Amino acid sequence: MAKYIVLLGPPGAGKGTQAQIISKTMNLAHISSGDIFRENLKNETELGKLAKGFMNRGELVPDDVTIAMIRDRLKRPDCVQGALLDGFPRTPAQAQALGEMLAEWNAKIDSVPYISVPAQVLIERLSGRWSCPTCGFVYHEVFNAPKQAGVCDKDGAALYQREDDKSETVKRRIDVYVEQTSPLIAFYQEAGVLVEVDGILPIEQVTEELLAAIL
Ligand code: AP5
Repeated sequence: MAKYIVLLGPPGAGKGTQAQIISKTMNLAHISSGDIFRENLKNETELGKLAKGFMNRGELVPDDVTIAMIRDRLKRPDCVQGALLDGFPRTPAQAQALGEMLAEWNAKIDSVPYISVPAQVLIERLSGRWSCPTCGFVYHEVFNAPKQAGVCDKDGAALYQREDDKSETVKRRIDVYVEQTSPLIAFYQEAGVLVEVDGILPIEQVTEELLAAIL
């Protein structure tokens, strides 16, 4: 039966970092709503043009657009075994819609690991983040540095800093998370699928805890 895992946590908690590792270990498609929006922004699609303003302000893209995008993505053949969702759902309406679409496909959410990290650490992490524009790999200039500063270890591309990692936008993203996404912690706790993982630990240890919680 297909397996669906939702990685929950604030901006900078390490969802993308962990999803890149765990999706390979579990052989599950890694579906990152943020990556899909950024790809559309780069290609200047209609979806990208719509999402741009919301993303640059650190706000959420409207639910109807985001839900339709994820529904389409989950229907692709690489999701036949399920998916590891990173960044979706992040509102109660999105969580409701995900539950309904999985029920329609006779599936359900197996586990919701919640990576908890205090706010002051998030700001430090996001201000030092560097990403690869080609393979999407995420680095940190102190905590997970590439071998050569500014260059991706995997494909040699020049790394970049995300537009929404500016300090004012980061603060807004954290506020939006608290207001709109954090209610999902209680929602999934009540559903009996939430497992809290301490995201302050080093990357490898967070991976171990996550795998122990999921497998
Ligand atoms: P999105 O791309 O999803 O951003 P986010 O949720 O804010 O999460 P981040 O990608 O910033 O952080 P992360 O938890 O993945 O951390 P990372 O692994 O990179 O969304 C961006 C925007 O798109 C939103 O603001 C919104 O506009 C829109 N959007 C997306 N989804 C949406 C939705 N469902 N609905 C509506 N709008 C949506 O790690 C961060 C840094 O820390 C890295 O440098 C990493 O190397 C480092 N690090 C990671 N783990 C550790 C560790 N354990 N110790 C030390 N350093 C660590």
